[in-house]
Amino acid sequence: MVDRNGPNRGAVAPGSPQRPPSTFVEQANVADGEVYEEFEEEWPECWERAAALLEWDRAYEAVLEDDDAPFYRWFAGGRLNASYNCLDRHLEAGRKNHAAIWWEGKRGESQTYTYRELFVAVNEFAATLRELGVEEDDVVTISLPMIPELPIAMLACARIGAPHSVVFAGLSADALAARMDAANSEYLVTCDGYYRRGDAFNQKRKADNAVLTVEQDVTTVVVDRLGEALPHVLGENQYDYDELVRAHEGARVEPVSRDAEDMLFLMYTSGTTGQPKGVVHTTGGYLAYTAWTTHAVLDVEPEDTYWCSADIGWITGHSYIVYGPLALGTTTLMYEGATDYPDRDRLWEIVDRNAVDVFYTAPTAIQAFMKWGEEYPEAHDLSSLRLLGSVGEPISPRPWQWYYEHVGNEACPIVDTWWQTETGGHVITTLPGVCEMKPGAAGPPLPGLDARIVDDAGEEVEPGASGYLTLHRPWPGMARTLYDGDDRYVEEYWQQFSDPDADEWVYFSGDAARVDEGGYVTILGRVDDVINVSGHRLSTMEIESAILDVQGVAEAAVVGGTGMTGTHVYAYVSTENDAESDATMSERIVSTVEAAIGPIARPEEVVFTSELPKTRSGKIMRRLLEDIASDEELGDTSALRNPEVVGEIQTATREE
Ligand code: PRX
Repeated sequence: MVDRNGPNRGAVAPGSPQRPPSTFVEQANVADGEVYEEFEEEWPECWERAAALLEWDRAYEAVLEDDDAPFYRWFAGGRLNASYNCLDRHLEAGRKNHAAIWWEGKRGESQTYTYRELFVAVNEFAATLRELGVEEDDVVTISLPMIPELPIAMLACARIGAPHSVVFAGLSADALAARMDAANSEYLVTCDGYYRRGDAFNQKRKADNAVLTVEQDVTTVVVDRLGEALPHVLGENQYDYDELVRAHEGARVEPVSRDAEDMLFLMYTSGTTGQPKGVVHTTGGYLAYTAWTTHAVLDVEPEDTYWCSADIGWITGHSYIVYGPLALGTTTLMYEGATDYPDRDRLWEIVDRNAVDVFYTAPTAIQAFMKWGEEYPEAHDLSSLRLLGSVGEPISPRPWQWYYEHVGNEACPIVDTWWQTETGGHVITTLPGVCEMKPGAAGPPLPGLDARIVDDAGEEVEPGASGYLTLHRPWPGMARTLYDGDDRYVEEYWQQFSDPDADEWVYFSGDAARVDEGGYVTILGRVDDVINVSGHRLSTMEIESAILDVQGVAEAAVVGGTGMTGTHVYAYVSTENDAESDATMSERIVSTVEAAIGPIARPEEVVFTSELPKTRSGKIMRRLLEDIASDEELGDTSALRNPEVVGEIQTATREE
């Protein structure tokens, strides 16, 4: 039911446990292990600690309302504004000159926004949005690269109660249009272009193409990022960001008081069907949860310079570049560039120059650093670092150890944080001031969370055995529904293991995992039709449906093939009789996928085969293709109707 593949994936055994350095523990925000018991005993009231990190316009009446599960309501009756919590209150606390955003541009430029300056910029853009006609609850789509206008636009939306839907700037025109259509969004904030490895890339052309195909009329605001390097012309219903903001210089917009359960934003993510899911996050629970986890897990303090190297276009950037760090009043560093441009020491140069305290990145990056060699981090003074984080994919013990030694100098704990777009914030990770670390295992569930590994029947499996990762208790940062509808939300996450008659609600993550005797969870990867490529979550169905649009393609199956260099997209394709040559077809398949989704979904290999392997009931056996793509021993093939194609596919894959 849940899984076409079975959860029995291999993973490297965790390395030997390590205690967090005592210098870290002595200063940690959370250093008392009692926190786990306290959260158990006081659940759900324990979550008041998270809510207490925020300022509320009106106090909530109940921490949790669960009478309509799985549609939980957190901090019901409470009112607040997210932009007020990230800006105004820090000014009132005498921190107006403290740096809020420290921006490092692609070409060596940098810019600092103090809390006061950020407040001014957000107010001016909020006034602008209002004048353009944006009203409370209107969805504003933002498709911007990592420039300060991105968090400014998000906070401006939050200020006026308009949910934002940020679409990763690297997605294609079609993908942007599909997300704008699905959210019925009539406003778009984008830019003329941005630099990609030194070249000017035209973002506006892409946005224009998207707007042409959406059904509704769209008002577009264009940030001039490139100036003379890429001149652009504004069309009808298109406005220049700077001009608009200049016309609202000095404007102040009263933050709109929002119900705790009102939508703060919408984030599209890949699911098990071709249609992306619009994950809905709320104002009170989400903000409280990101503030709490930034405090407890990332150990961020207001005086820190904190750097998460993710892109704000995905959930990690929303939660741990923008909302969590700014809610706590810290300095959040924002980096526009690549890890190896102009050179492979770029990140360490930034850490050194800005005396970064906490650094949070993805295993893909860590693996690349490891491959490049320790001379790059060693060329810089990284002694300001206190804590390191990892997110997005499993981190194996070897890169973990390399990160620990060569970046952290064995003086920084590493938090390997497991979570998802849908969870809003961290769920499984060590608390760095409390727990020992086991390289390769994310850790135990956070205080107040109840993660269990279950089998097909929903029964908990023994320690050491693999199963499905499920969550058995709600938490404030959880998604509330899908913008596409409550039914799809229940189907996607709550149907598999819940028992509605007994009012038992179990959230299914889509991941396989196993747990050890000590309660540490090792993540084994996705078991649904989602693949994780360099930290980007992609739907195989979405890629397949793009490929099926290519003339001459009869059938297509997309899987993730995992090898030494991580997971890549493999497309297995059978063609119609009179199709053109494989080489031209392959090129057209690749360019169609890029146009439909974006370069991140580009198939690494397109393998042609006379037939796809199918079960007797006619289902494509993707698990087998995944094993072939990963060059692993093949599992049981006895269910195949056409076992004779296996050899052909193996040979074709090896030849690619
Ligand atoms: O498979 C898990 C993997 O990323 C998926 C969630 O992707 P997304 O919603 O894009 O959010 C990414 C950032 C939180 C999960 O289902 N994943 C995330 N963190 C880890 C991970 N896999 C292993 N270890 C992690 N720390």
